[in-house]
Amino acid sequence: MDPQEQSRRVAAVFDRVAATYEAVDVDWFNPIAAGLVRELAPKPDERALDIGCGRGAALLPIARAVGPGGHATGFDISAQMVALTQADVDAEGLTNVDLQVLDASDPGLPLGTYDLIACSLVAFFLPDPAAAIASWHDLLKPGGRLGLSTFAERHPAWVELDAVFKPYLPPQMRDARTTGESGPFGSDAGVEGLLRAAGLHEVRTTHEPISVTFQDAEQWHTWSWSHGQRAMWEFVPEGERSAVKATAFQCLAGVTDDDGRIHLTQGVRYTLGDR
Ligand SMILES: C[S@@+](CC[C@H](N)C(=O)[O-])C[C@H]1O[C@@H](n2cnc3c(N)ncnc32)[C@H](O)[C@@H]1O
Repeated sequence: MDPQEQSRRVAAVFDRVAATYEAVDVDWFNPIAAGLVRELAPKPDERALDIGCGRGAALLPIARAVGPGGHATGFDISAQMVALTQADVDAEGLTNVDLQVLDASDPGLPLGTYDLIACSLVAFFLPDPAAAIASWHDLLKPGGRLGLSTFAERHPAWVELDAVFKPYLPPQMRDARTTGESGPFGSDAGVEGLLRAAGLHEVRTTHEPISVTFQDAEQWHTWSWSHGQRAMWEFVPEGERSAVKATAFQCLAGVTDDDGRIHLTQGVRYTLGDR
């Protein structure tokens, strides 16, 4: 599939999930982005960029941290994500934020502008992450810092769950977890290599597992439709979805406690580098 078509598909999926994203009573993207913001440590008066800002998981805390003397720009390829995040920015009365619809592969923003760039759970969606990250390097001021979050090791139940969808997915499918298994997003060294090849220095990695609890398997199911995993469900023919759901629930049985709650952990990798 040509890269533009791939990006259009990603944008369309995130347009469809924008209203439910991180809004179904499961904390997932916000804690992951909070860890990235902590690592990037934005300071008052700094200029920041959040690439693939989604519903503002990193952008909003960064905007609060840089304060009225600083500025935070967020962009996303999904117009719906941008529109709903703009509404949140307006509702909070943040005056130091601007939001745009742009493609991270070629954002066309002014060079040498940002003290820090955040990119939480986005880079693995890009057709050519190495080229994109090299272009982000040039957006930083000299001495500025770039931080990415990506998925690291995961609970075996996630592996089993993803395997349920695999037979339905086209080989070029870009997904946070499945594309993480091979290529540069499969290891610390792989992601660090992308940052070094982009010209960044002092490249460093930290890890933090995040734990998630679902009240029951139905809540997992609702959640799985509320974010990028929706794309996986949409590849399953409608007539086969109940069978796939039943198989997925069997995978979850092994991580269900006596009260019916499901507990899963996911490793998160934060990779930072300086210009
Ligand atoms: C998993 S979400 C992460 C969103 C947000 N950073 C967060 O932590 O919640 C991935 C986001 O990347 C955006 N995205 C994917 N490909 C993109 C591209 N080429 N350019 C800009 N944004 C992109 C999607 O629209 C989506 O909002």
